[in-house]
Amino acid sequence: MRTEVPDPLAGRRILVGISGSIAAVKLPLVVSALAKRGAQVRCVLTPSAEQLVSPVALASLSRHRCYLDADQWSHGADRPLHIELAEWAELVLLAPLSATTLGRWVHGLADTMLASTLLATEAPVLAAAAMNTAMWGAPAVST
Ligand SMILES: Cc1cc2nc3c(=O)[nH]c(=O)nc-3n(C[C@H](O)[C@H](O)[C@H](O)COP(=O)(O)O)c2cc1C
Repeated sequence: MRTEVPDPLAGRRILVGISGSIAAVKLPLVVSALAKRGAQVRCVLTPSAEQLVSPVALASLSRHRCYLDADQWSHGADRPLHIELAEWAELVLLAPLSATTLGRWVHGLADTMLASTLLATEAPVLAAAAMNTAMWGAPAVST
């Protein structure tokens, strides 16, 4: 008799933060894989990421709407959206992480929906920085 082993990702609440790296074009595959394994996925995109990957495609694959900068100001609930999302997340996956969003994060700047959520969360963050090798090696980024 075979016993089914539950997928460790099943039911986990994963917030995927997508910033403006060309690697954003790969995120539909990542989101789809997480959703197929039963994870609850929410995507937050920066305005640059919106230029590179479709929020409509990500919403369809994650089976949930995406969160964009404009949503932060039109939420209209008791608590700010970035706080709700920050507390909802069990894990934050920053993929891809652009140099700009990395800079915001390490300097404590909260001027996008994603940056605000990042500063507000106490969940573990898994970051996949993605940029040209010269950008990655630039002292302002690598130190
Ligand atoms: C086609 C294209 C590809 C880009 N790829 C990268 C990249 O791989 N990594 C990166 O850090 N920035 C990349 N950039 C630059 C960022 O999009 C830009 O710095 C932007 O300000 C990032 O903002 P965000 O972090 O709010 O998304 C790219 C820009 C364009 C137009």
